[in-house]
This record gives sequence, structure tokens and C-alpha cells, in this order.
Amino acid sequence: MTVIAIANQKGGCGKTTTAINLSACLGRKDRRVLLVDMDPQGHASLGLGMRCDEIPGLYEVFAGEASLGEVILPQVAAGVDVVPATISLAAAEHRLPDGSERERQLTMHLAHFRHRYDYVIIDCPPTLGFLSINALRAADQVLIPMELSLFSVDGIERLRETVSLLRDRCGLDIPMRILPTLVDDRTRLSRTLLRQIWERFADEVTPLMVHYTVRLKEAVCEGLPIIDFDPGCVAATEYNRLADEVLKGLGERRRDRVQEHAGTRTNDTPANAAQPLNTPKPPSLSGGRGHPRRTVLRFPGLAAKNIQVAGDFNDWVPDQGIETRIVGNSVEKILLVAPGLYQYRLVVDGNWQDDPVNPARIPNHVGGHNSLLRVQETAELMDLQ
Ligand SMILES: Nc1ncnc2c1ncn2[C@@H]1O[C@H](COP(=O)(O)OP(=O)(O)O)[C@@H](O)[C@H]1O
Ligand SMILES: [Mg+2]
Repeated sequence: MTVIAIANQKGGCGKTTTAINLSACLGRKDRRVLLVDMDPQGHASLGLGMRCDEIPGLYEVFAGEASLGEVILPQVAAGVDVVPATISLAAAEHRLPDGSERERQLTMHLAHFRHRYDYVIIDCPPTLGFLSINALRAADQVLIPMELSLFSVDGIERLRETVSLLRDRCGLDIPMRILPTLVDDRTRLSRTLLRQIWERFADEVTPLMVHYTVRLKEAVCEGLPIIDFDPGCVAATEYNRLADEVLKGLGERRRDRVQEHAGTRTNDTPANAAQPLNTPKPPSLSGGRGHPRRTVLRFPGLAAKNIQVAGDFNDWVPDQGIETRIVGNSVEKILLVAPGLYQYRLVVDGNWQDDPVNPARIPNHVGGHNSLLRVQETAELMDLQ
């Protein structure tokens, strides 16, 4: 059983929408899912068409009036059972005796269901109080939907502080992954914020995002997950991809796997071949000027992996505007970029890392490195035809 808390103390960033639709997509992939509504507003239950005002829910479980098994609503969507919440959940904390076990209530109740569910998805409230702490203590991973706005970054920093507090106090190291939501990449602001998030949070950002679409609001009104309401729409595809990432492990770090390929050279010279840039100190990075040039990044020996490239040149949106070719056992990424100096990173099987073939790199603010790519004014980089 894997427990994923969908958390962010900012309201309206897509927590409930993500909890509902991720649960439904996992259920459709034949996984047994328990969706725990941990928000006293009860929107996760409501969004799946359940009005739960009159029935026992998580409050009654915390208050010792019912067992978790007694309040579970079976098959609310295909493969998805739900633990409902009502407004009284906000008062649950006061029904519990003092002591450290208060924070472990959910963990203890879920322990009995370890073999019944493959995934437990917890829809957290927009506060970092008793309920969210219970969710975080139960969680194997935290998924943070992040609406692209100037205030979102601040919320994430505070959530991070809480997670590191738990690490220090309880020895829990819970991986966090950020999912950009309500993305409208037609606007310049959205693109700028996306880029800032990728630069600032680097490895913690999933290579996925959920775009803004009114179909998600319409689905909620109908009490249906998006894959039932409109299986062909973009949001259905995006939440399905998120479910695929979750099945692959989401927060797992597998950074070492590609190191064995570092330094591999080939006959012709792709732009990221192992040659350090002549930059003794971190260069001032400049985006491109002049005509775009066709530039190739080659990754020998990685054809079996799913590689995406994100950098200054494509607003840090993985593979945006980039063509992919498989040549033998190499992956080639073909970019059209103006001459200039750029930072980029790779997403290899869902995990962010710098380019192992390219020794030119600079530290980023999250303790890792970004790779550097210089596109020359005059030089033809590579003739692909
Ligand atoms: N990708 C999206 N596109 C359009 N509307 C969305 C999207 N994600 C969420 N919404 C809408 O935004 C509002 C807030 O989303 P919700 O999931 O309830 O956020 P939270 O649980 O974080 O408060 C809801 O009306 C929801 O339908
Ligand atoms: Mg919510």
C-alpha cells in the first residue's frame, strides 16, 4: 500500500481535483484505491457525487464512534472507495487525548487496510494543522498541486518547512513532488511562473502538469471524474499520465542509473558532447539572439529510457518544441535555438537530473546542477540530413 497525501495549504490550487482524478485513473488501471477526504469541507466526496452530511465519516473514526471500515463508501468510482468527511471533522482534534498519538491517528487506522488497497490518496485541507499533520505522518509521498501564481511559491516553502520538521522530529523523510496545475501556457505570466518553479524547485517538480480547462469544473458539477465525464479531453490524458507516473514510483529518486554512460563520445559532435565550456566561473546566462540554429543533444546508450529535455530555451517545459529521434542505442533531441548560453536539465524516466554526457554545468539553488549549452553564432552544429 502506498499512501499519497495531496497537500498545499493554499486553497483553490487543485488538491481536491487532483485527489479525485488521480484516484479515478488509478482505479481504472485496476488498482484498489482508497480516497480519504481529510478536508472538513467534504469536497472530495461531493466531487464524486456523494452528499455525506448525514452519514458517519472520518470525524466519527477519530472520535472513536466508528471504525474506519464502517465509514468506507465502496465503489464510489470504478476501483475507488471513499472515506467521507463532514464539517464536524474540523473539531476532531478536540475529541482526542493529548499526546504524540494524536498525530498518528490516521496512520494507525490505515494500518488495518494495508492489504486491502494498493493506493491511499488523501485530500488534505488548506491548513497545516492537526488534519494535515496526520496526513503527512501517514504519507509515503506528498504531491503538491501548485497553481501558477505569485503566492504559490511561499505556500510550498512553508509546506517544506513542515516536512523537514517531521523529518527532524520523527525521522520521516517524505519525498515531495510538485504538480503545476491550472496551467495556461498561452499567457506570458504563466510561462514565466512555470520557468521560475522549474528553476527554483528543480528535481521536485513532476515532468507533468495539468492545464486549465473548464471541463474539470463541469465534471465536478456532474459528480464525475474527468475520465468518466469526458475521457477524450486533455485533462483526462494529463491525469492518466499522472497515474502512470504514480505507478512508476513518482517520488523515487533513481539518479545513479545513468551515470555509467557519462563521458561517452561519438564520432560527430553533438552540442552536449563531453567538452567543458570554457567558463572558469559561472557565466552570466543569456538567452538567444539571432537566427535559431538546429542543435542536437545526444544521449548514448539511453534509447531504452524516457528522456525529456527542459531548459531556458523551452521555458523549462519538458520536451516543448523538441524533436526526439532514436538512432541505434542513442536518443537524440533536436532543438531550434538562437545563439546564446542556456541552462537545461533532463527528465530521465520521470526524474530530474543534469546531463551526464556534458561536463559543463553550474550549481543550482537546490543543491544540484544545471547543464550548460552554448549555441555558437556561426558554427554549424550538426548536419542531420
Ligand atoms: N486544471 C483545472 N482547470 C480548471 N479548473 C480547475 C482545474 N483544477 C481545479 N479547478 C477548479 O478550481 C477550483 C479549486 O480546485 P480544487 O481542486 O477544489 O482546489 P483545492 O482543493 O486545492 O482547494 C474548483 O472549482 C475546481 O473545479
Ligand atoms: Mg479541496
